[in-house]
Amino acid sequence: MQYPIGIFDSGIGGTSIWKAITTLLPNEDTIYLADSYYAPYGKRSKDEIVALSIKNTEKLIALGAKMIVVACNTATTNAIEYLRTSYDVPFIGIEPAIKPAALRTKTKNIGILATKGTLSSDLFAKTSNKYSDTINIHEITGSGLVELIEEGSINSPEMEVLLHSYTDSFIEKNIDCLVLGCTHYPYLIPQLKKLLPDHIDIIDSGEAVARQTKTILNEHTLLSKSASFERNYQFYTNGKVEPLTQVLTAYTNKVTIEYMNF
Ligand code: SIN
Repeated sequence: MQYPIGIFDSGIGGTSIWKAITTLLPNEDTIYLADSYYAPYGKRSKDEIVALSIKNTEKLIALGAKMIVVACNTATTNAIEYLRTSYDVPFIGIEPAIKPAALRTKTKNIGILATKGTLSSDLFAKTSNKYSDTINIHEITGSGLVELIEEGSINSPEMEVLLHSYTDSFIEKNIDCLVLGCTHYPYLIPQLKKLLPDHIDIIDSGEAVARQTKTILNEHTLLSKSASFERNYQFYTNGKVEPLTQVLTAYTNKVTIEYMNF
């Protein structure tokens, strides 16, 4: 019997993390919950985010998850400490990649694009305070971005206007590293690259999270070794199926995507 890795996000953004995990760990099965009905989490209170994270965790455990990846920055920064002390399964969270940006920046100015829920969390403050003596951290709340991505408007004129205003502010601050502090945002990298000068590196957490997932599975002797089986990738959404299908088009013959009320 092979148990899957459980992954949840406030919607479709965590599929960027799913791709990184299944690329590094091709023997693992996965179950993904897209909590799109309750998106965006970034505008919710800490108590609401914790309650939604508990709901998703319990659903994934009921579906047989052997570990849980909280593929959402807002849920990680607000709820992971609670989840880790409340359930026996190992948890992996996603924090904005401030450390790699701090090590890489030459201008000593880095930009963070994240939700209000992430930027206002204690965990984010704790991480950014570690670096605030040596670098300037310029934070911008990506208002409206998650909503547009969730409705499938990644390449819309409204998106372009919003991104323009954010990138102009970052350029003015002389940043040379932009940290994407929300798992939805990697879907905006092509547009961001057009709007930002070439010397600005865009940093997302996908590969680092996949490596951490492998390490933790290994430590708990939970790594799957059954390379011979066909992989089982299940996706459930409590919102519209179409946006999820859109971001997974390259994989649709390998994954199952279904509506579920959770
Ligand atoms: C949101 O639901 O507001 C964004 C999720 C994230 O922070 O990754």
